[in-house]
Amino acid sequence: MKKLLSVVLSASLLGLALVGTGCGEKKELVMATNAEFPPYEYHDGDAIVGIDAEIAQAIADEMGRTLVIEDMAFDSIITAVQTGKADMGVAGMTITEDRLENVDFSTPYATAAQVIIVKDDSDIASPDDLAGKTIGVQLGTTGDIYAEEIENASIEKYNKGFEAVQALTQGKVDAVIIDNEPAKVFVSQNEGIKILDEAYTYEEYAIAVKKGNTELLNQINAAIEKLQESGKLQEIVDKYIVAE
Ligand code: ARG
Repeated sequence: MKKLLSVVLSASLLGLALVGTGCGEKKELVMATNAEFPPYEYHDGDAIVGIDAEIAQAIADEMGRTLVIEDMAFDSIITAVQTGKADMGVAGMTITEDRLENVDFSTPYATAAQVIIVKDDSDIASPDDLAGKTIGVQLGTTGDIYAEEIENASIEKYNKGFEAVQALTQGKVDAVIIDNEPAKVFVSQNEGIKILDEAYTYEEYAIAVKKGNTELLNQINAAIEKLQESGKLQEIVDKYIVAE
């Protein structure tokens, strides 16, 4: 009797312990992003939506984990991934040599370009005309990094890409260097500005994970491959980007 009781007791304690540790609940997959980057990530009411949000959700589904999105400044994302505050950075993030020293990147899931936005009546017609100009960028982005290389240019750094575009419409900067798809969105929302035909650079977007976390990286890469092969990735892109 005594023995039976203790068996029952330990079984129920075990049950409690399982509930307590959330066994059966899915482990979280925390994504760091900067939701100021339509159509990749942006706010829609209380929700963060966009291509990256949906790709991350599909990856989490593949891995059987619950996606949690942490919105932060763009230049905090790498640190969040390095310190483990987030499992992955998904933010239309371009693979660069510098960033590869601090994080590992997944296989690319998108190609992009840095483009130049100017006023309709601007005398800037190509990247060569940017020398000596005032250029608006989003802080810490590749647009920021490239602008720094332009001869005699003064760089105005904004927390949000949209703020750089606003500065352009207000005549505070002569041009904005920013990723092509957000550029299209911002230009469509503002009168009197245009995107130059000639792109500044071409780049690739990938997911950043903590250096050396090959287990997670392999899982993410496997999920990306699956999403590419099934056509799901293209489906997500087509939902947000209407082909010209
Ligand atoms: N592709 C650029 C970069 O990697 C800009 C990305 C900005 N992303 C964002 N979610 N605000 O620097």
